Amino acid sequence: MKLLVTGHNGYIGSVLTDLLLEAGHRVVGLDTYFFEDCTFGPDSAAVPAIRKDIREIHTCDLEGFDAVVHLAALSNDPLGSLNADLTHAINYAASVELARLAKEAGVERYMFASSCSLYGFAGASVLAEDAPFNPITPYGISKVRVEEGVSRLADERFSPTFLRNATAYGVSSRLRVDVVVNNLVGLAYTTGQVLVLSDGTPWRPLVHVEDIGRAFLAVLHAPREVIHDQAFNVGRTSENYRVSELADMVREAVPGSRVEYAEGGGSDPRSYRVDCSKLENTLPEFQPCWTVRQGIEQLFGAFGAQGFSRADFTDGTFIRLAQLQRLLREGRLDEQLRWRALGPRPESIGAATGEQSEATVNHVRSPHTR
Ligand SMILES: NC(=O)c1ccc[n+]([C@@H]2O[C@H](COP(=O)([O-])OP(=O)(O)OC[C@H]3O[C@@H](n4cnc5c(N)ncnc54)[C@H](O)[C@@H]3O)[C@@H](O)[C@H]2O)c1
Repeated sequence: MKLLVTGHNGYIGSVLTDLLLEAGHRVVGLDTYFFEDCTFGPDSAAVPAIRKDIREIHTCDLEGFDAVVHLAALSNDPLGSLNADLTHAINYAASVELARLAKEAGVERYMFASSCSLYGFAGASVLAEDAPFNPITPYGISKVRVEEGVSRLADERFSPTFLRNATAYGVSSRLRVDVVVNNLVGLAYTTGQVLVLSDGTPWRPLVHVEDIGRAFLAVLHAPREVIHDQAFNVGRTSENYRVSELADMVREAVPGSRVEYAEGGGSDPRSYRVDCSKLENTLPEFQPCWTVRQGIEQLFGAFGAQGFSRADFTDGTFIRLAQLQRLLREGRLDEQLRWRALGPRPESIGAATGEQSEATVNHVRSPHTR
């Protein structure tokens, strides 16, 4: 299949792109490259790519694709809260418009990276896909609204699917340490302290970043009738943990580390457990390979192999909000998170024909690398 993957240069996108290529698909990326230089270890395979903001997509960008995999977003609660209007414009309005244009261009499938954060405050119940939405952040609200808006476009020619990912963990060439497991392992490795900012009671469903990739592949390969206009929780029902349990697992894996609770850390209202059985029952191809314990070991090994330092942990390269704030402070991004022209700007590669070579992509540099 020929696939357009938006946000292919991000944490999940970098891993997913490699999995899609391994499965024999043709991948074209589309990204504004907020995190282009934020690499951890060897980079993922280069693919032909469109250097563009998703707010500026046209039908011609989408012609000739069998499916759109839509990951690009301001992609966690802190980023989503930076500016609620921007979150609305990028995460919601541009995502629904992307789906509308994809349908207009004859693309038959649209896979959306939704999030379990749309369940929001849910206490200790284990939520299946029919649970009520209760988002409590602009980020969570944007995911609900995209699902509602894109679902209205579903018909016999256009099949959207909503993958409600649990919180990701694990190694990626665009590593993030602003997701809970990666954060706790990074802290333990670089400071010896597993610092929990809440009281540790909130529940979180967790999923390895590679298993998210496997879920997208399973949806892509599934017959239309089982994925048409469906939502799936992505993770494993057995992998819901309280933050305190995660901290204890990290302490056990990182020699010499200890768990500490930040003073005044109250209970985090974002607390939910999810039931992921629909995905496994509907799509037998989906075989998750990772547990949180294995992911902690993987991260610990990778931090050692890369000589990850305390400065690496804190300088913001692997923290999305800090990276965007740096680009804003340095005047590279304007307040709408659009790149400012800093001299001659490379042309977007334009409508992807699939004919651009990897070399072409490698020669296009983002404004912030100049
Ligand atoms: N990481 C998680 O734990 C998690 C959990 C649930 C859902 N998700 C969803 O999965 C998707 C991918 O998440 P991620 O963790 O890889 O995020 P990420 O922040 O690492 O990557 C997002 C990518 O989108 C690009 N992007 C952002 N705004 C853009 C714009 N306006 N135009 C073009 N490109 C833009 C960024 O440059 C980046 O490469 C997001 O939609 C996110 O909400 C992530």
